[in-house]
Amino acid sequence: MPVGDIVEVSDETISGADDVMKAAFGHMVEAQLTHDLRDGAYMLDERVVLQARGVVGYGALSRAIIRYGDNKEVAIAALAPLAVSPSVQREGIGFALAQTLISAWQENGNGAVIVLGHPPFYRRLGFSASLAERHLISPFPEAGDAFMLSDPAGVLCEITGGHVEFPAPFGVGVPRQKEKSA
Ligand SMILES: CC(C)(COP(=O)(O)OP(=O)(O)OC[C@H]1O[C@@H](n2cnc3c(N)ncnc32)[C@H](O)[C@@H]1OP(=O)(O)O)[C@@H](O)C(=O)NCCC(=O)NCCS
Repeated sequence: MPVGDIVEVSDETISGADDVMKAAFGHMVEAQLTHDLRDGAYMLDERVVLQARGVVGYGALSRAIIRYGDNKEVAIAALAPLAVSPSVQREGIGFALAQTLISAWQENGNGAVIVLGHPPFYRRLGFSASLAERHLISPFPEAGDAFMLSDPAGVLCEITGGHVEFPAPFGVGVPRQKEKSA
C-alpha cells in the first residue's frame, strides 16, 4: 500500500507535523525541538507524509558536527525526530520517510547520519551501532546499541574517537554555536 506523499515541510503542514509528534510521543517536547531547530537554522531537511486525512508522519535531519584530532571537524546529519501517527504505525510510513531523508542527504555528496533509536528498525535503514563505536564516542553511553551511524561514503573512515556535537536545541554534549547569518 502506498504510504502517501512525502514532501518538504511548509508553513501549511507545520501544525499537522506538531500534532503527529504530540500523538506519537505523548507530549510536545519533540515538536518544540523542531521549532527550536528551525529558529536556530539547524535544519538540513524536514519532511511530512501526507495522506487524504492530512499529515501522518514527520521526520527531520539537522546539522551535527564530529570533532576529532587537532580541532578538525566533519559536518554530518542527525536524524530526529521521526514520528508517525499512532493509528497508521507499522505500515511502512516511518521507514519510507527515514529512507527518503537519508537518501536525499547522501545523494547530495554528503555522508554520515547519526541516530538514537530502536536498533532493529534503524539497522534496516543501514545504520550500525558497531560502526558508530568504531568512529565515535557515544554521547549516550547508557543507550548501548541504540546509538548508530550510517556512513556509506566513508566520510568518517579515518576517524576514531570523534566527539559528537548535536545542534544546541538537543541539549546533548557540547552545544554548537549558532551559525552567523550572512
Ligand atoms: C518509530 C516510528 C517512527 C516508526 O514508524 P512506523 O511507520 O510505525 O514504522 P514502519 O512501519 O516503517 O516500520 C515498523 C518498525 O518500526 C519499529 N517500530 C514501530 N513502532 C515502534 C515503537 N513504538 N517503538 C520503537 N520501534 C517501533 C519496529 O522495528 C517495527 O518493525 P516490526 O513491526 O517488525 O517490529 C513510529 O512507530 C513512531 O512514531 N513511534 C513513536 C515515536 C518514536 O519513538 N520515534 C522514534 C524516535 S525519534
